[in-house]
Amino acid sequence: MTSGPEQPGSSHLPADRRTVIVTGAARGIGATIARLAAERGALVGVLDIDTDGARRIADQIGGIALSAATNDETQVLAAFDRFAEETAMPAPDLVVNNAGIVRFGALAQLSVADWRETVDVNLTGTFIVGRAAAVRMAARGRGAIVNITSINGIAPGPYAGAYGSTKAAIALLTQQMAIEFGPAGVRVNAVAPGLIDGGMSEEIYANSEIRAARSSKVPLGRLGTEEDIAKVVLFVGSDEAAYLTAEHIVVDGGVVRSIIANLPRPATVDGVGPNGQAERPEVSGS
Ligand SMILES: NC(=O)c1ccc[n+]([C@@H]2O[C@H](COP(=O)([O-])OP(=O)(O)OC[C@H]3O[C@@H](n4cnc5c(N)ncnc54)[C@H](O)[C@@H]3O)[C@@H](O)[C@H]2O)c1
Repeated sequence: MTSGPEQPGSSHLPADRRTVIVTGAARGIGATIARLAAERGALVGVLDIDTDGARRIADQIGGIALSAATNDETQVLAAFDRFAEETAMPAPDLVVNNAGIVRFGALAQLSVADWRETVDVNLTGTFIVGRAAAVRMAARGRGAIVNITSINGIAPGPYAGAYGSTKAAIALLTQQMAIEFGPAGVRVNAVAPGLIDGGMSEEIYANSEIRAARSSKVPLGRLGTEEDIAKVVLFVGSDEAAYLTAEHIVVDGGVVRSIIANLPRPATVDGVGPNGQAERPEVSGS
């Protein structure tokens, strides 16, 4: 006789069933990470400030909806306590710090309120959730945390000064957490998505010209998907990556490495390309 999947709230969680909390999981990349983790057998806490959205995704994937703002420590600690009760596990195996916001604006005009909100949700939220997770995982002697950054935290983007600054800071926070909690068995890494066709970028890629122009600048020739990110996040957070910590893994089809390749060069230098512009190098041999 085969037994059905364990229901949330069961104290009979199989010892080998992974438990995962994903923040900002009511939509976008977070929802896709949560869904993939559930498909692979994990019991997932869908944490979001959007209570209805979190419940909807949790219902779809057989997970546990956790209503909390990541930048509110009282709410975050209550959510972790509830997840521990429901799963009968003192700490999740994996926590993905995915919740984030963007407030676009040139630095000359950006309001201090928008700057502060971006820092509060992205950076302080990651600190609050990361610390809550790491302390519990350290007491258990094992666990992994994956912080979601962005290529905007590696190279400045248009009107993204506040956002990019928080993402660069999260990359450093990731290293700091990794060295402080590593001896207690907790791994902490960051994953930087590139140009992603989904989530907060939906509006950008709804414009077909922009979509084509941006895709053409990516060495792998396409935008990234939410699944592209989810698969790497779950690998980094799995025991397959048991010796990986303090790393910042860029998942962008090569786009941040292609700045120089996308600059024009005079044809006379290389003897190739029309109109004085070098084309993409030939990949077939002569
Ligand atoms: N989509 C992209 O192109 C892209 C690219 C690079 C990095 N990222 C990063 O990936 C992560 C997910 O982005 P997305 O595109 O899926 O965004 P999204 O806007 O689609 O979803 C973000 C989710 O976070 C939740 N959220 C916002 N503030 C919160 C808070 N204080 N507490 C709890 N939940 C909160 C929202 O309710 C929403 O469900 C973010 O950290 C983002 O910076 C996205």
